[in-house]
Amino acid sequence: MPKIEFLLEERKIEVGKYANLRKAALKAGIDVYVGVDRLANCHGLGQCGTCTMQIVEGMENLTPRTEAEKKHLAGKPDNWRLSCQCEVLGDLCIITNYKPKPRRQ
Ligand code: FES
Repeated sequence: MPKIEFLLEERKIEVGKYANLRKAALKAGIDVYVGVDRLANCHGLGQCGTCTMQIVEGMENLTPRTEAEKKHLAGKPDNWRLSCQCEVLGDLCIITNYKPKPRRQ
């Protein structure tokens, strides 16, 4: 079974082959969305572009970019993926769509 390591969260999970990356992350309690995107997202339809993850290792272990990804990730690094569009084929190492909160003074 494929293993996914989430670097920022320091978590490793095991998923079934062909698992949807977004659903697997959410099921494991990984914060896929940031801020208002937690409520204002397309719930995996490939329309909002807010479920982005960086694939640090294992790009070859995901299904190819979909048309939705080509639209939302145009100009972004090849290792950025919309997690809702990805099926997991093998082991991955991932950085989630982390945006640090502004510091209070
Ligand atoms: S959840 Fe909207 S594009 Fe992935």
